[in-house]
Amino acid sequence: MKKKIIPRSWAEPYRMKMVELLKTTTRAQRVNAIKKAGYNTFLLPSEDVYIDLLTDSGTNAMSDRQWSAMMLGDEAYAGSKSFERMEKAIRKFYGYKYIIPTHQGRGAENLLSQILIKKGQYVPGNMYFTTTRLHQELAGGIFADVIIDEAHDPKNLHPFKGNVDINKLDALVKKHGADKIAYITVATNVNMAGGQPVSMANLRELRTYTLQHGIKVIHDMTRVAENAWFIKQREEGYENKTVREIVLEICSLTDGATMSAKKDALVNIGGFMATNDYEVYEEARNLVVVYEGLHTYGGLAGRDMEAIAVGIKESVDDNHQRARVGQVEYLGERMKLYGIPIVEPIGGHGVFIDAKEFLPHVPQGQFPAQTLAAEIFIDSGVRTMERGIVSAGRKPNGENYHPNLELVRFTIPRRVYTQAHMDVVAESAARVFENRKKIKGMVMIYEPKYLRFFQARFEKL
Ligand SMILES: Cc1ncc(COP(=O)(O)O)c(C=O)c1O
Repeated sequence: MKKKIIPRSWAEPYRMKMVELLKTTTRAQRVNAIKKAGYNTFLLPSEDVYIDLLTDSGTNAMSDRQWSAMMLGDEAYAGSKSFERMEKAIRKFYGYKYIIPTHQGRGAENLLSQILIKKGQYVPGNMYFTTTRLHQELAGGIFADVIIDEAHDPKNLHPFKGNVDINKLDALVKKHGADKIAYITVATNVNMAGGQPVSMANLRELRTYTLQHGIKVIHDMTRVAENAWFIKQREEGYENKTVREIVLEICSLTDGATMSAKKDALVNIGGFMATNDYEVYEEARNLVVVYEGLHTYGGLAGRDMEAIAVGIKESVDDNHQRARVGQVEYLGERMKLYGIPIVEPIGGHGVFIDAKEFLPHVPQGQFPAQTLAAEIFIDSGVRTMERGIVSAGRKPNGENYHPNLELVRFTIPRRVYTQAHMDVVAESAARVFENRKKIKGMVMIYEPKYLRFFQARFEKL
């Protein structure tokens, strides 16, 4: 008799020591809650949420090592030992020379944009990110999207949809001149494209090009270790390298970085700006005291910096990334079994439903992704978020941006939920999919001036 092949499943490289109890609600309670929240999942009280996939930002579960490191927090106003430990970890695992702590990623984006952008300069990037682009615009810059076209197509199976299109960048440089380019932002594992990675080959090519033209490469390294995991899986020559080695190599191809430690680095708050350029550091060290705090705490408590130092180390562990990205893939594959249209390849930090295909009868002007996120909450108490026309916001001239991608993001916090939770989420999406023809769009009844997706309110049509 032929022997059966028994698979070896991946599993979480940790076990649970403490749990947080969740509230369950009735459908009537959820209908009421989302109505009160103006059909914006950001405005729901978290108590009414069963499985919270709003974001992977600051929602991670910390390890026992992180919690114990927090007890060592040096809360001195100046010269904190905890800053030194965080600085040492950033230098060791990411390789950047000079570090400025900030309260979170956007604090670093603010400093960097103010320092490097002159009014009227262009800032190319591999797709926009909401806070990044806004800080660039507030500093007088003009964002230009130079990601490859494949990134805007949810069905395209390119393994590195986060890649920069060097021809698009070159056309921008030729049109305006290299002195009109402030710098290029390269995000690793591009959030808005669905958590899609950049290849090392592309980063190397970009490095060569930018050195030739005297343009700085600024790395949005929020999810760099997840990107490294995809390089290990998909890029020739990297299968035997560790995530830790790949992360260092990625960073070495850039001049500086902004980091939201709330994602990859497995903490609940924190970030930093990093640079290899002493003059940029000198200016950032001056500016940080205006917005964040002294250059050795930047809005963070000593204990937060301790947790970041340990979290960075844990984030570059291959077993951690295997389980982290593996869980996202598990959810995506479950959704595909139900025929739900998702962005492919499945990304690193979440599964993104293509709301245009899910609700073809709801035009983009009636906010299909916003509508779908509300419907999923009503079905099961699972909280997701919109990444489409609402998130894209308005251009500085007041016109709406019309992004190609109209997505609902199911973002998975790190080390928080189980496979059974993922089953519940996929089943909920499937139930809403079955009843999709009955779903109607919405109108926006309140629109904040900045980053409207956080606080906008809607009514059902
Ligand atoms: C790619 C990317 N860049 C920057 C940020 C901003 O970071 P933060 O939320 O910590 O301000 C985020 C997080 O929302 C992000 O996903």
